[in-house]
Amino acid sequence: MRFYCGKDYDEMSRKAANLISAQVLTKPDSVLGLATGSSPIGTYKELIRRYEMGDLDFSSIRTVNLDEYKGLSGDHEQSYRYFMDTHFFDHVNIDKANTNVPNGLAEDTDGECARYDDLIASMGGIDLQLLGIGHNGHIGFNEPEDIFRKETHCVALAESTINANSRLFEKKEDVPRYAFTMGIKNIMMARKIVMVISGEDKADIVAKAFFGPVTPQVPASILQLHPDVSIVGDAAAFSKISL
Ligand code: F6R
Repeated sequence: MRFYCGKDYDEMSRKAANLISAQVLTKPDSVLGLATGSSPIGTYKELIRRYEMGDLDFSSIRTVNLDEYKGLSGDHEQSYRYFMDTHFFDHVNIDKANTNVPNGLAEDTDGECARYDDLIASMGGIDLQLLGIGHNGHIGFNEPEDIFRKETHCVALAESTINANSRLFEKKEDVPRYAFTMGIKNIMMARKIVMVISGEDKADIVAKAFFGPVTPQVPASILQLHPDVSIVGDAAAFSKISL
């Protein structure tokens, strides 16, 4: 596990973009696993800037996103498909047909989970998975529980996650209660993992997840067992660990 510390959010974002740029440059047809949320927005902005400067080419890149709210269509403003389009895909030369997000409107829940697992396998697995971390240690929507769920599944969101995400909805009741998410095995099978973490409010979970015991009660702790993880944080997020 390597730790990269930026002094603030922008520097953290540039460092994360460096790692993703290296992947795109060395393997132009990479499969990138992508995340939504506040943490990677700066990383996407920086990747867009590098694309606009002519330094990056996404034309052969394929992507697979971690998760999606169940019940939201891709054109709903709070859907993760909409997030990805507006924060990244619409601004680079990626072929949208090569971008994948779970279908929030799928009626056959188990069928959609199986389709997503098959899709990841058919792409040859994930070369680099970008992650954020929840205050309770969740990755994707893998919430604390007694076991690590392996594959794509539909999950009831923890109250803390609903509260954290309600800032983006008009009212808390509008936050969907369920989501599709890749499982821990899907994430751990990625050849490289890059996690972005920003802010003092994440400092406790950073210490717990990466310096505490590996347990499904802190899902991100499993990353301690992955052979190629880069944790990219700002000084505030790293304020409770000594590097
Ligand atoms: C988003 C995702 C979530 C977020 C996490 C942190 O696709 O999978 O696990 O990474 O909730 O969110 P932010 O970055 O908004 O603090």
